[in-house]
Amino acid sequence: MQEDQDMAECIKKVALLGMGTVGSGVYEILQKQRDHMPDKIGCVLEVAKVLVRNKAKYADRIAPELLTDQWQEVLSDDSIEIVVEVMGGIEPARTYIKEALAKGKHIVTANKDLMATHGHELLEDAKKYGCDLLFEAAVAGGVPIIRPMKQCLLGNDITEVMGIINGTTNFILTKMSEEGMDFDEALKLAQDLGYAEADPTADVEGHDAGRKLAIMASIAFHTPVIFQDVYTEGISKITAKDIRYAHELGYEIKLLGIAKRTTEGIEVRVHPTMIPSDHPLSAIKDSFNAVFLHGDAVDDVMFYGRGAGSLPTGSAVVGDLMDIARNMQYHCTGRIGCSCFQQVPIKQMADTKTSYFIRMKLEDRAGTLAALAGVFGSNNVSISMLVQKAKEDDTAEVVIVTYDVAEKQFMDSMTVISTMSMVKKVSSIIRVYHKEV
Ligand code: NAP
Ligand code: HSE
Repeated sequence: MQEDQDMAECIKKVALLGMGTVGSGVYEILQKQRDHMPDKIGCVLEVAKVLVRNKAKYADRIAPELLTDQWQEVLSDDSIEIVVEVMGGIEPARTYIKEALAKGKHIVTANKDLMATHGHELLEDAKKYGCDLLFEAAVAGGVPIIRPMKQCLLGNDITEVMGIINGTTNFILTKMSEEGMDFDEALKLAQDLGYAEADPTADVEGHDAGRKLAIMASIAFHTPVIFQDVYTEGISKITAKDIRYAHELGYEIKLLGIAKRTTEGIEVRVHPTMIPSDHPLSAIKDSFNAVFLHGDAVDDVMFYGRGAGSLPTGSAVVGDLMDIARNMQYHCTGRIGCSCFQQVPIKQMADTKTSYFIRMKLEDRAGTLAALAGVFGSNNVSISMLVQKAKEDDTAEVVIVTYDVAEKQFMDSMTVISTMSMVKKVSSIIRVYHKEV
């Protein structure tokens, strides 16, 4: 009896903004965990309102007294202490979060679009009002990465964070790599299976990964990085032949988000990358995500799991909710806010350094390779490997891998090479990742 009373006294009311893929996962997990919550976190998290646009759509799943299409009903309800934003998009999500923070409500969001562009502003608001604003689900869905970087790894200077942080493109590249599918066939399969949206641009062109990378880089390097700072290049030009050649050379092709701390500033880029087959990231298949980082104390660490989906993403959101509920009971909300305490310059893509794989068709005659080597040499591009592949009539397919070189020098040489009469076609240019020693 006393126990029931204590529990009744410790109910934390939550509003869900959105009841789609993520919202329904959160709702399900909260119901399933209800009986364990008093032991796990000392109170019960109870959904008191669910905000959607079209109430009729949800009438069969959500009790009518919980459903609303009026934000003011949530905002003005002082019994609601935590708001979970799982609607997506920038507006009205940004305004709703700012208004909720101003009323002292704590926030959990899964919204990478918003956090990658307005995260700094929202975290400043959270600080001003002494609130928690947690967003574990915004990067790599169910894979814990934000809390590990902000807490467990805080004793490190992180020098590199890179990851496979888009499941759709990893699924497509896996099908191309393992089943020899071409890009269009693999994309169609991803759409049929519900991984890829009808408009797959954000995933395929690297924008989704770019947003997640911006969020991770800000936290890893303690400096503001927004989506617009990230260079993005997608996978739509990768062919089955590129993947075959990559295998021959001992690489897998992955869409990597790479954030690096260098002496000249931070590199943040998302692009298809040839990664050595013995690197742990090359083994990440299908729609799985993984983040690999290097800290000066911990050395290499990798996090792996499901980057999307109702329950995996719900798992991250509920973890944040439970953390907030604990903080509220110990009167220590707002203790982990924005991690940016410095302004580190962000390098232009032209100044970043990497190695390159080039596949091209050349006239198969004396002097062709010497002419190419001359252009590379005059731009300080050093060749680490050159192989002549298939030959058709008087045209030879040649594969070249360079040593690390500044993007500008490499691209300057390719501008000249692509106009040379003996160069019939530059078929692919793919950056190659090597671990720095
Ligand atoms: P979703 O399935 O499209 O669901 C969106 C929900 O939000 C719907 O219930 C929708 O209600 C509601 N909503 C949208 N705009 C609204 C508005 N202006 N006012 C009130 N309700 C509104 O989206 P989702 O896949 O769950 O994604 C939600 C967020 O989580 C996004 O920020 C996404 O980037 C992030 N995320 C998703 C995943 C994933 O696996 N899906 C993984 C990680 C992060 P109506 O149906 O009535 O329009
Ligand atoms: N569209 C994303 C992906 C999932 O394919 O990984 C949501 O972040």
